[in-house]
Amino acid sequence: MQAYSSGNGIKKIQIQKENKIMSRKIKEVKDSITVMTQLVMPNDTNPLNNLMGGNLMRWMDVGAAICGGKHCEEYVVTASVDHVSFERAIQLGEVVTIKSYVTRAFATSVEIFVEVFAWHLRHQLKFL
Ligand SMILES: CC(C)(COP(=O)(O)OP(=O)(O)OC[C@H]1O[C@@H](n2cnc3c(N)ncnc32)[C@H](O)[C@@H]1OP(=O)(O)O)[C@@H](O)C(=O)NCCC(=O)NCCS
Repeated sequence: MQAYSSGNGIKKIQIQKENKIMSRKIKEVKDSITVMTQLVMPNDTNPLNNLMGGNLMRWMDVGAAICGGKHCEEYVVTASVDHVSFERAIQLGEVVTIKSYVTRAFATSVEIFVEVFAWHLRHQLKFL
């Protein structure tokens, strides 16, 4: 494999496939960053009016799937989840932002890091 920069500044890589030399654009992390935003509605919460962890994990899964799909140019599935920790409760009416980005690419799989931020329209940004 050999990387080079084409005339228009786009970084490309040469790969050999089935005895043919092909070139494709090098994929950078920024090419697949995915940002999703959700408003926490009553149907998303537990009896304490906080967002249910399972609903948040579903949104995180969708964000990661879109990010992985953009990187791989194909539908992807979640093979495993390393670590999830809920450090603060997210309340009814807050705006949740879920940011997903590729942190490592392997032969046929990718590692995706997902960050969650919650925002109350009347208060400050929370980091979770
Ligand atoms: C994930 C899955 C495709 C792996 O299938 P498999 O036949 O074991 O595939 P392989 O052994 O060829 O592995 C393919 C890649 O996945 C990676 N992988 C497989 N299982 C993994 C796991 N539990 N955690 C992390 N990576 C895993 C392998 O390391 C390999 O990566 P690489 O080629 O970059 O080195 C398969 O187990 C599956 O379809 N699981 C269900 C996924 C799903 O439905 N998710 C939704 C949630 S229920």
